[in-house]
Amino acid sequence: MAISRKVREQMSNSSWIRRMFEEGIELRRVHGPENVFDLSLGNPLLEPPAEFKAELTRLINEETPGIHRYMPNGGFPEVRSSVAEVLAEESGVPITGAEILMTVGAAGAINTILRSILDVDDEVILIAPFFAEYVFYVEHQTGRSKFATCDENWLPEIESLEATIGPRTRAVIINSPNNPTGVIYPESSIADISAAIQKAEEKYGTEIYLISDEPYRKLIYTDAPYPFIFEHHPRSIVATSHSKDLGLAGERIGYIAVNPTDTGKVDLLNALNFSLRTLGFVNAPAMMQRAVAGIQRATVDIDIYRKKRDLLYGALTKIGYECVEPDGAFYVFPKSPVADDAAFVAELQKELVLVVPGVGFGTPGFFRASYCVDDWVIEGAIEGFEKAFVQASS
Ligand SMILES: Cc1ncc(COP(=O)(O)O)c(C=O)c1O
Repeated sequence: MAISRKVREQMSNSSWIRRMFEEGIELRRVHGPENVFDLSLGNPLLEPPAEFKAELTRLINEETPGIHRYMPNGGFPEVRSSVAEVLAEESGVPITGAEILMTVGAAGAINTILRSILDVDDEVILIAPFFAEYVFYVEHQTGRSKFATCDENWLPEIESLEATIGPRTRAVIINSPNNPTGVIYPESSIADISAAIQKAEEKYGTEIYLISDEPYRKLIYTDAPYPFIFEHHPRSIVATSHSKDLGLAGERIGYIAVNPTDTGKVDLLNALNFSLRTLGFVNAPAMMQRAVAGIQRATVDIDIYRKKRDLLYGALTKIGYECVEPDGAFYVFPKSPVADDAAFVAELQKELVLVVPGVGFGTPGFFRASYCVDDWVIEGAIEGFEKAFVQASS
């Protein structure tokens, strides 16, 4: 096969999630879809809010000329201004449309950022557990991933971060609410991470970006305000999307927000525009840009996810699984009752329950279960979770 050795290697190390997806298809074929309880995917369940359809309908009937043509690579100026207005209101930071670039989802945003800041073999620090695709994004953009750890509450361990940062570090990626743990990093964690970065910048005479991947920012089940990064580190960049909060994962629409106080922002914005174009995205989908511009305050019904969280987290902890209560996103990340998480996931699979081993998120000994599924899937999985737990504990 004439494909790249690198891609072949990446594919063979790749995605437990994909593997579970394929196992799920086979199990459904053999046992019938109603008997398989698949909690392995993070595919947003909820349909977009009514505001989205209303906005699309309005746009379809609009006769403005030129709206389907190319535009500035970062997106329509009026869309960027609308996004900035709401982000400024939510974050308390006076960001403007000039600091926003519309992107092809959060994945497109992160690739565009990494392409813009990495030279060959520059290092990017990921904090385990992390979204597994980061490793491939970093490799695609010619960098190398380094790994720091979290404590037992899934908050970043600053000593580990400090020990991992080196002279080649160009960025630290954080993700809160976190996939796979559902944990939201408090303001104190963001402050400590930023302080560790600034200490390293001084020590090595370098500039290090803090990249915050926030596609779950609006899927939060507490009343505590979301801690934004901009006030903590000048070289900070937000990458996000409407895949989860508006249920638009297939429409591929998101954005990058650059810290308005970054003195290097003009260079950075130019590089981001260039990378967005030359990675082949050219610009984010025009129609979707316009559709989300006016509904930045809307979200899917978050209460539905909260109830699913309560159902799954409640059932697992009642059975005896150890698990940090997730405050956001739509995942739980319990401890595997046996050390070998992949073996335990295989046991669950015998009960027709599909989850993803923690090793797929850089954290063996745990597993991820998604609750962005119908209630019957969660309810049907409980018996299998119990049987496998009892068997493993006996
Ligand atoms: C943490 C995290 N970052 C990025 C992405 C990619 O999001 P998008 O579909 O907006 O590209 C996902 C998708 O599941 C995710 O969980």
